[in-house]
Amino acid sequence: MIKKIAPLPKHIALIMDGNGRWAKQRNLPRLAGHRAGMSTTRSLVKTIGKYGIKFVTLYTFSTENWNRPKDEVNGILGILGRSIDKEAPKLHENGVKIHHIGHLERLPENLRVSIENAIELTKNNTEMTLSLAFDYGGRTEILDAVRSIITDRIEAKDIDENLFNNYLYTVDLPEVDLVVRTGGDLRISNFLLWQSAYSEFYFTDVLWPDFNAKEIEKALISYSQRQRRFGGL
Ligand code: IPE
Ligand code: IPE
Ligand code: MG
Repeated sequence: MIKKIAPLPKHIALIMDGNGRWAKQRNLPRLAGHRAGMSTTRSLVKTIGKYGIKFVTLYTFSTENWNRPKDEVNGILGILGRSIDKEAPKLHENGVKIHHIGHLERLPENLRVSIENAIELTKNNTEMTLSLAFDYGGRTEILDAVRSIITDRIEAKDIDENLFNNYLYTVDLPEVDLVVRTGGDLRISNFLLWQSAYSEFYFTDVLWPDFNAKEIEKALISYSQRQRRFGGL
């Protein structure tokens, strides 16, 4: 049952952290945690959809996550590729548009093709935009924007926040209203640095694989009770 909560965020972004610790607690390999995390992601996207939230951004793999051992990196890439192939048709049936933010060119060919196919398949859908931040880094995003602005020979006097926004990967997305981080750490780990300037934050100790419908409800209730002032009174 979905509880009536208002106001709801229009755009929610999730830092899905704690898969490794979840596995460790159970004496399982870290990849078992990533698999459990993927299953949480799948059901959570459905739950968020039931609330009518239209924009969801998932921090799936950061530019810093390449620093992990090769086996873990390859395992995560494999889990993501298989999940996209399996889930894209179902997401398509449910009207979900798949979007990617970050870099695609460093990914293995088959994963890149899976993501591109999913984007193409779902490009006209309007029920929800599901953005996958995969090989995403907030600093890289800002530097990419600066490079493109220079390449386009934009004059210094013409650079304002609106123009800068148009050079970010998130150009087609509305403001991020709520950032949720599971796993107990109180940091944003290079996620949406520009976009989260006035986001609300919700941190929980719950590890990502345990982040169920009840937990997202708590986050949404917390959001609904915030007073957003944006510097005003
Ligand atoms: C988040 O879980 C998933 C990714 C960063 C890919 P972690 O793998 O960071 O899990 P912990 O933080 O080690 O528990
Ligand atoms: C943040 O988690 C990145 C993702 C959830 C994809 P990390 O586990 O990589 O963050 P740090 O290293 O604890 O900051
Ligand atoms: Mg982590």
